[in-house]
Amino acid sequence: MTAQPRFHLLRSVLYVPGSNPKTLAKAPTLPADGLILDLEDSVAPEAKIQARHNILATLHATRDHYPGARVVRVNGIHTDLWRDDLAVVLAGRPDAIALSKVESPASLERLAAAMREIAPDGMCALWPMIESPLGVLQAHAIATHPLVSMVVMGTSDLGRALGLPGDPERIGLRHALQQTLMAARAAGRGILDGVFVNIRDPEGFLAECHDGARLGFDGKTVIHPAQIEPANRIFLPSDADAETARRILDAWNQARARGEEICVVDGKLVERLHADQANQCLSRWKNAQKRDED
Ligand code: COA
Ligand code: MG
Repeated sequence: MTAQPRFHLLRSVLYVPGSNPKTLAKAPTLPADGLILDLEDSVAPEAKIQARHNILATLHATRDHYPGARVVRVNGIHTDLWRDDLAVVLAGRPDAIALSKVESPASLERLAAAMREIAPDGMCALWPMIESPLGVLQAHAIATHPLVSMVVMGTSDLGRALGLPGDPERIGLRHALQQTLMAARAAGRGILDGVFVNIRDPEGFLAECHDGARLGFDGKTVIHPAQIEPANRIFLPSDADAETARRILDAWNQARARGEEICVVDGKLVERLHADQANQCLSRWKNAQKRDED
């Protein structure tokens, strides 16, 4: 089975600690394009079991009406927790399971095998997190696993593993960000940028969103409600981009009607690839309009 990405728009995906009933209740009311309900780093060891059941309740409560992606991050494959995490949360039919620190397709295969065993009818997509040097080096093999629909950067762990100072320009992370993005795209997958941990620094957050968008990420993982709206705005083609896309498509369609394969719009050459790009831009823009109306 190859996972088809059901969600074409994931500008902001919010981490929600599974042990905090207040944030779990609030999360589906927020305008994020998706949620990662977390059983891993944000949950204390003694709260893991309760968190599974909290998340299951949220999955049930959001099953019919929540328009975004419902993803659960289980505990790492090296722990003795992930199997029981799956056994509980798969019953809530999440859209995907996120797994931290993936370094080979073999760990995804272990996860997939357990999913088939626990809930043969409950298979869902996998979102591997790339957050170690080895993960970056293996990113293409990981991203090509047939169940993967989205790759998620884990920039905090990666920065620590690389021995990087906290650098607003992310100079030391550049290579890893681009290599992982290349790997995800080569496999035809989406990719989300890592989190910005300073929730009281809106300007720093904006700068990092712009950086991620320029690098080519589809969206950003976020940790706080205040980060959702800026990420939604920056990872969306602007109204002006959508307008340009419309004019490119009009001109292209007229050129095709004349039996021509190229035309010029605003002094710029337009070929089929630009028309395809314009189509993608418009459909992303329309999806966002629809989501923002929900
Ligand atoms: N999801 C949903 N709601 C959230 C939220 C989240 N991730 N983070 C904060 N909120 C809610 C709070 O519950 C609060 O709700 P209220 O206004 O109804 O009381 C509101 O947003 C404002 O929160 P604030 O007081 O500014 O933040 P906080 O001190 O309560 O929480 C964090 C700060 C960082 C602990 C919290 O944002 C958080 O847990 N983030 C996610 C961390 C995580 O999952 N990490 C793992 C991946 S890196
Ligand atoms: Mg982590």
